Amino acid sequence: MSRLDKLYIGTNTKMFKSIKQTDNYLKELEELTADIPKKEIEIFVLPSFTSLINAKKIVGSSIKIGAQNMCWENEGQFTGEVSPVMLNELNLDIVMSGHSERRSIFLESDEIQGLKVYSSIKNGFISLLCIGETEEEKNYHVADERIRIQLKKALNKIDLGMADKLWIAYEPVWAIGVNGKPAKPEYINSRHTSIKKCLIDIFGDKVGSEIPVLYGGSVNRKNSTEIIAIDNVDGLFIGRSAWNAKEFNLIIRDTLEIFSKRKIARS
Ligand code: PGA
Repeated sequence: MSRLDKLYIGTNTKMFKSIKQTDNYLKELEELTADIPKKEIEIFVLPSFTSLINAKKIVGSSIKIGAQNMCWENEGQFTGEVSPVMLNELNLDIVMSGHSERRSIFLESDEIQGLKVYSSIKNGFISLLCIGETEEEKNYHVADERIRIQLKKALNKIDLGMADKLWIAYEPVWAIGVNGKPAKPEYINSRHTSIKKCLIDIFGDKVGSEIPVLYGGSVNRKNSTEIIAIDNVDGLFIGRSAWNAKEFNLIIRDTLEIFSKRKIARS
């Protein structure tokens, strides 16, 4: 079975939702999606650090739970940081790195993402690496160059054996958040083609072509189906539109239907 036979769909709740709100959200989401065969889909949620202990207990294995960030060191003088050892105590599935808000507000470099991706995979997590160009880079037509640098630097120490724990989320910075403008399907298609080519350059055809590449940035119920209809989009990474469990459930169902048709057309 190919890793890409599944639809990957998840959300990062950023610095929103209290512990209670996250508990309720996850309970509702789990109930609403209970009938969806989990061999067809990877649903995941990345809540705030304070919600993680409960989150993992609430959803069991039906929804993957992950952290939005992590320090690369196991312990040490890193005030304010959370280590992989600490996250492992919570039995988390995923650790994200490189979200554009971490890069732009907290000034995290590509090299730092490399340390985080390596450490998260070494510590047994799925590493969800976010990449994406700024509006300025898009306007200078260097989006592919930027994405390639981000991938090559962050994956520098990742060997073939580690790549099966890697997921990529392509999120153009200009498409994310309240001021974001959703990218056009043709634009997404071009960037995903470049990302997949770069992953094959790094890991070879067999391994590189199996790494899931998700799209994120102002995905909502309206545009989700046309985005998932793009052949080289393996999943969706959603912010605001997934923070209501009912709405997220509808997006999951709509996109899974399109994705299943895509699989039939491919076979
Ligand atoms: P958005 O967020 O869907 O609210 O644009 C996406 C993200 O930040 O991952």
